[in-house]
Amino acid sequence: MTRPLVLTLALGLLFVTGCKKTNGGAKPEASASASGSAASVGSVSPTTPSPPHLTGDSERGRSLVEKFECSRCHDGTGLAASPLEKHCVTCHQEIWTDKFKAKPDKIAKWKKTVVHYLNAPSFENAGERLEPAFVSAFLLRPHKLRPNMVSTMPRLRISEQEAADVAAYLTRGAKTAAEPAAGDLTAGRQVLETKACGTCHTFSGVPALPVQPSLATPWQKGNDAIELAPDLRFTRDRITFGKLWRWLLDPAKVKPSTLMPKLGLSEKEAKDAAAYLLGTPLAPVAKKPIPARLPVLERKVTFEDVDREVLQKTCRHCHTNPDIARGDGGPGMTGGFGFIPRKLDFSTYESTNGGLLDLKGERMSVFTKTKDGTPLLVAAVLARQKEEAGEIDPEARGMPLGLPALTAEQVQIIESWVAQGRPQ
Ligand code: HEC
Ligand code: HEC
Ligand code: HEC
Ligand code: HEC
Repeated sequence: MTRPLVLTLALGLLFVTGCKKTNGGAKPEASASASGSAASVGSVSPTTPSPPHLTGDSERGRSLVEKFECSRCHDGTGLAASPLEKHCVTCHQEIWTDKFKAKPDKIAKWKKTVVHYLNAPSFENAGERLEPAFVSAFLLRPHKLRPNMVSTMPRLRISEQEAADVAAYLTRGAKTAAEPAAGDLTAGRQVLETKACGTCHTFSGVPALPVQPSLATPWQKGNDAIELAPDLRFTRDRITFGKLWRWLLDPAKVKPSTLMPKLGLSEKEAKDAAAYLLGTPLAPVAKKPIPARLPVLERKVTFEDVDREVLQKTCRHCHTNPDIARGDGGPGMTGGFGFIPRKLDFSTYESTNGGLLDLKGERMSVFTKTKDGTPLLVAAVLARQKEEAGEIDPEARGMPLGLPALTAEQVQIIESWVAQGRPQ
């Protein structure tokens, strides 16, 4: 697909310009092994130290969840669900499950490109599972938690206090008290092996867990369960022992909508497994390498090349011209997720050269040099490569926001075009 497509969605409310996936592929098969290969590059938390967790205010947190539009991706926020035409996950899911009202040939075509935001974890009873300190640190420095999910939590423009307020709200009313860990690590490892937890979970940093593909089939929604299952490496940052062993005994009792099945563990087995999850030493995982920057190309690079190779593929869905697309143009255009409108429109050569609004609302060029001399457009895509390697650049927000970074070749095309004076 080499040209932009403008879709008229049956709803008539939101229009999106087409783009082709750059990464990922089909949803993982139920039988696919998600097991704990230590080679699962990328599931690494940021190396930048987290600031100390502040005390949050749940009431303020509630209005912030509204302001940041968390309900456009997450269920269980306690606020009204976003309508279909605004809900990134519901709309993409409807396309995948043939529920979306559009011509079948359109749906078939979209299914090939819609790979992101097919799932997002729900916050139902989050207080019984997640620690507020984890939630606020994660909001400030999001990283990949789910190895089989292509999209990640976007890095929002949120302050430390706001993150603490949101965390207090999402974990409000937590009942279970933390208890000192008590369990046998060796027996716990055994539980994870017999129950084949590796069928759905990666546990990076420990020896690979056995997989039992047959287990995933009867659970029907096997695909979604694998996509939503977190890398167990991070569990110790997220959950305390008291909450964890109760979760393992009967996940649905803690979170009725969960896709993690009840695995018939005894109390002792649940405690042993919890002890292993929280206490076993973790080998360091390989950081996803930051791709080397390639030299500027000799051959002529035009806007058409940049458009075809980059802008159409991942950027335009969030940065488009609302007049052509008649929707809101996406969060990078008219704002959303708490971002103010930046009016950055990649729909044409002219609009790309027209620049964007700075944080004071003044027009600026998207080629403005940042502190180290890199044009903003290039700095933003390089920042995303760094974010995937666990490095958060305070100077630039990684683009495409929350989605897989561009390849070195894609960055090279942008850099070459800019270096050649941006020919049309
Ligand atoms: C009303 C339905 C609808 C909503 C709401 C929606 N999308 Fe999409 N999205 C689509 C369709 C349809 C495509 C496929 C376009 C194509 O193939 O031409 C798409 C494609 C995409 C793509 C490019 C393909 C991919 O998976 O990378 C991205 C990125 C994307 N959407 C992100 C979002 C985000 C972020 C939101 C929430 C702000 C959102 N979408 C909301 C329907 C929707
Ligand atoms: C554009 C979609 C999108 C928006 C908007 C969004 N998130 Fe997320 N969020 C995700 C995705 C996708 C994940 C899963 C990431 C992963 O597992 O690596 C996630 C994960 C999380 C997690 C980890 C939860 C868990 O069970 O692992 C928390 C906490 C979270 N988001 C909080 C928020 C809050 C609070 C907001 C609003 C301030 C918000 N998110 C807005 C997409 C979104
Ligand atoms: C069918 C797939 C599946 C199997 C098998 C499975 N889980 Fe899960 N597990 C999930 C999903 C999906 C989640 C996310 C739950 C949610 O947020 O609703 C999860 C969540 C968890 C969590 C919370 C992790 C966190 O960091 O938030 C732990 C711990 C966990 N599982 C441990 C286990 C153990 C131990 C086993 C084996 C005894 C196991 N799981 C078997 C699918 C599975
Ligand atoms: C999921 C939606 C989304 C996608 C996809 C996306 N952007 Fe953005 N973009 C945003 C939002 C939101 C902002 C505003 C961020 C802010 O104000 O800090 C933004 C801002 C920017 C900025 C200005 C950054 C700054 O720090 O001032 C640049 C440059 C940019 N995007 C480039 C891109 C490029 C290039 C792509 C594709 C490779 C892309 N974006 C894909 C949502 C998106």
